[in-house]
Amino acid sequence: MDTVSRHYDQLLARHYTWMLGGDLTALVAEQTRLLRDLGVEPRGPGETAVDLGCGPGNQTLALAALGYDTVFAVDTSKALLDELTSHAEGNPAILPVHADIRVVLPEITEPASAAAIVCMGDTLTHLPRKAGVTALLVDCAAALAQDGRLVVTYRDLTRPLHGTDRFLPVRSTPDQVLTCFLEYVDEETVMVHDVLHRRSGAAWTQQVGSYPKLRIGADWLVGQCSAAGLTVERDEAGPRGMRLLTAVKKGRQPITNDRGRRRRGAILGGEDPRRFGFPATGDERAMLVNVLAAQRATLELKCAGLTVEQARRSVEPSTLSLLGLVRHLADVERRWFRRVLAGQEAPDRFSSQEDPDGDFDGAVPDPAVVAGAWEAWREEVAFADAYVAEAPHLDVEGHDAWRGRVSLRWVLIHLIEEYARHNGHADLLRERIDGALGV
Ligand SMILES: C[S@@+](CC[C@H](N)C(=O)[O-])C[C@H]1O[C@@H](n2cnc3c(N)ncnc32)[C@H](O)[C@@H]1O
Repeated sequence: MDTVSRHYDQLLARHYTWMLGGDLTALVAEQTRLLRDLGVEPRGPGETAVDLGCGPGNQTLALAALGYDTVFAVDTSKALLDELTSHAEGNPAILPVHADIRVVLPEITEPASAAAIVCMGDTLTHLPRKAGVTALLVDCAAALAQDGRLVVTYRDLTRPLHGTDRFLPVRSTPDQVLTCFLEYVDEETVMVHDVLHRRSGAAWTQQVGSYPKLRIGADWLVGQCSAAGLTVERDEAGPRGMRLLTAVKKGRQPITNDRGRRRRGAILGGEDPRRFGFPATGDERAMLVNVLAAQRATLELKCAGLTVEQARRSVEPSTLSLLGLVRHLADVERRWFRRVLAGQEAPDRFSSQEDPDGDFDGAVPDPAVVAGAWEAWREEVAFADAYVAEAPHLDVEGHDAWRGRVSLRWVLIHLIEEYARHNGHADLLRERIDGALGV
């Protein structure tokens, strides 16, 4: 058993809740308010939270009250886990885990599955080495789902106290007094000596126990979070004289932190000549054809590099997905160039009167469906390009049941309009899927 666990076992665990004021219900209410203020609340059913170093459950019970479906409560102190269990009153959301926070996350969570991880009330400084904090943050980043949040509260012990300032009164009641004494060992460690006086009748007894705490500075911790791939949102003075840090796991990291510059950079850096490599002057037909080609290339770009599952992801309540958009635009091309202008008998491939939303509803995560969508789209684009190339002028006409007479000029303009609208959807879908941006 390490020094910290021994200290909690022998001295601190049985007085821990008393040390914090004695009223766990009030502590839970305080932590519930704090976590809600920090944006730690489930966004839907089925979310998991993890409380690292849960103690008697101040944050665990708060997370359960906030509505997380599962709250793993991790601690090395059996006594404190038992206290938590008695307060949890059989709440099935709360799962006590008797384990070390340095190894537990890969054991209890799937990668990218936890909506929230908290390590509060100075637990972080209980780790024996700073390298352990660094490793824990990497584990947190791996365990957090996209947009999942980490909350840490800890004491910054980097500035040494001197002389009698090192005696810190913790709590006193008529029968019990707790004082701690800090001994600065080296740059990384402070030895905390807890001195507990208890009255028994007219006599007082003294119990002393010691354990090391880490000296963690705010700048260092922010740097470690960033290195682990977490975006620090708040780094400030927190409750009870502690520092408060919140960090979020974002999607793929931007090229720069400046959103404006990053988007602009993506335009200038666009390497596909179909998108930005044609002149902005000249002949009407060439201009319409080039702008339409740029819109089509943008759709391809927005879908590049996705897995089959990602390609069909939508954002509720919408059923729009990138795969659905490819299927939809294949049918759009087919309608206007084959049916309307060329007069072919060419029913939609993916929709029908009986199934008007088949293009989106049928966008299921199946490699054959993805391949079929792209094959169809490319065939329709090839037909359209050939039709335009052979048309004698832009005033050739076709007939559409809804619009009546339509010219090739109008169809080209309409297709640009249609792609531009759907590429806007594609921008948002892609950013939601993996954070990838660019125009
Ligand atoms: C200062 S208390 C914080 C408890 C609670 N989160 C709060 O805000 O009051 C630190 C807790 O972390 C636990 N702990 C310390 N080191 C640990 C480790 N390596 N793994 C798991 N729990 C640990 C201790 O047993 C104790 O319950």
